[in-house]
Amino acid sequence: MKYKRVLLKLSGESLMGDKQFGIDNARLTKYAEQIKEITDLGVELGIVIGGGNIFRGVQAEEGGMDRTHGDYMGMLATMINAMALQSALESANIDSRLLSAIEMKEIAEPYVRRRAVRHLEKGRVVIFGAGTGNPYFTTDSAASLRAIEINADVIIKGTRVDGVYTKDPEKDPTAEKYDKISFDDVYSNGLNVMDMTAFTLCKENDLPIIVFNINEEGNLKKIIEGDSVGTVVA
Ligand code: GTP
Repeated sequence: MKYKRVLLKLSGESLMGDKQFGIDNARLTKYAEQIKEITDLGVELGIVIGGGNIFRGVQAEEGGMDRTHGDYMGMLATMINAMALQSALESANIDSRLLSAIEMKEIAEPYVRRRAVRHLEKGRVVIFGAGTGNPYFTTDSAASLRAIEINADVIIKGTRVDGVYTKDPEKDPTAEKYDKISFDDVYSNGLNVMDMTAFTLCKENDLPIIVFNINEEGNLKKIIEGDSVGTVVA
């Protein structure tokens, strides 16, 4: 096993599957299966999930809504996804705990770093809900922050493309994939791995990022076992 403690970032959009909105249960089940493969290896796993399949603060602002208001609504959206994910993990017999950055104690434990680490040590998957609990921060930033806080070995970002490319592979067929790239090269080439706040947090704390295609079954396990999957930013 190459990595012992990891933080997995899932986008809200990835939960939609082929739908236009909301949550595709079949997709969630697939994710739970992949997660089971790595928890069975003894990996300590934290998960941060986005909310874009339900609500996006930035877009709400474009529609005239106050940004902070929209961001808080987005944080609530991540909690809906987190609860759906927890339910899927439970169905797959994976022990998990949901911790929320915004107190809503009737449905989740409040986020307390030491408690999160204790849960991980006991082999529970910890889902971090409600982003960082602050507006103007993305869930990528929440993922970077939590990964650093729990001393994760790596942050793995599940996307629908299989890594970081020279150009946008969905728009330009000449785009080439990097197997490995430095933080500085991502920055100087203007590549989009995470937003700058999240990215800088990883760089300054020497936290490697792996970008990979979560929809390809078995990828998560391959990464944990050290196979070359996706792109490593380090
Ligand atoms: P240990 O104390 O390490 O054994 O952890 P534990 O999570 O098994 O014990 P605890 O008694 O703290 O929690 C039992 C269940 O209640 C777990 O599913 C927790 O996620 C949940 N839980 C704990 N605290 C809260 C809370 O403040 N709010 C909500 N909604 N659930 C909580």
